[in-house]
Amino acid sequence: MNTLVLYASQYGFTADCALQLKGQLDGKATLVDLVKESAPDLAGYDTVIIGGSIYMGKVQEQVSAFCMAKQTEMLSRKLGLFLCCGLPKNLEQSLAASFPEALRKSAKAVGCFGGELRTDRMKPMHKLIAKMMQKAGAKDGIEPPRANPQAITEFARAMKAA
Ligand SMILES: Cc1cc2nc3c(=O)[nH]c(=O)nc-3n(C[C@H](O)[C@H](O)[C@H](O)COP(=O)(O)O)c2cc1C
Repeated sequence: MNTLVLYASQYGFTADCALQLKGQLDGKATLVDLVKESAPDLAGYDTVIIGGSIYMGKVQEQVSAFCMAKQTEMLSRKLGLFLCCGLPKNLEQSLAASFPEALRKSAKAVGCFGGELRTDRMKPMHKLIAKMMQKAGAKDGIEPPRANPQAITEFARAMKAA
């Protein structure tokens, strides 16, 4: 398996998840941060995994733009899709808003790796929204965002088995 793991991350949580995932895959895996680098030619890879984090219901533009532009090439490879988010109950909606249907149907693994609100690193507007999310969540009895390392392990297992 020669895998390309593409991701976008605003405050580093998704980057940490992508790194953990890389460590659990078989064969060679290359990590590319789509915010900082452009993706290499997919020709050299039999497996492509792509993911990002959800902000206001959608994944980063770099991720959705890549999926739109490279959809055909992605469909001919072993594919995995993942998201990091604070509201896993909205996962289906977030997946639908983030990845084209054809990719979602073709994916061997679709995962949600949880989320973290890293408020110490956030720009002021995001910090404010994060604090509002935490407050509203506490009021409605919704658990605060947290990492789900088990989901990364299950995702890696599904990719290896496919
Ligand atoms: C301003 C803001 C908006 C967010 N919007 C959503 C959202 O609409 N749905 C959701 O499930 N999580 C939302 N989150 C939670 C993030 O997806 C979560 O914190 C994630 O772990 C961020 O990962 P990153 O550090 O890699 O960007 C939001 C977080 C912030 C700070």
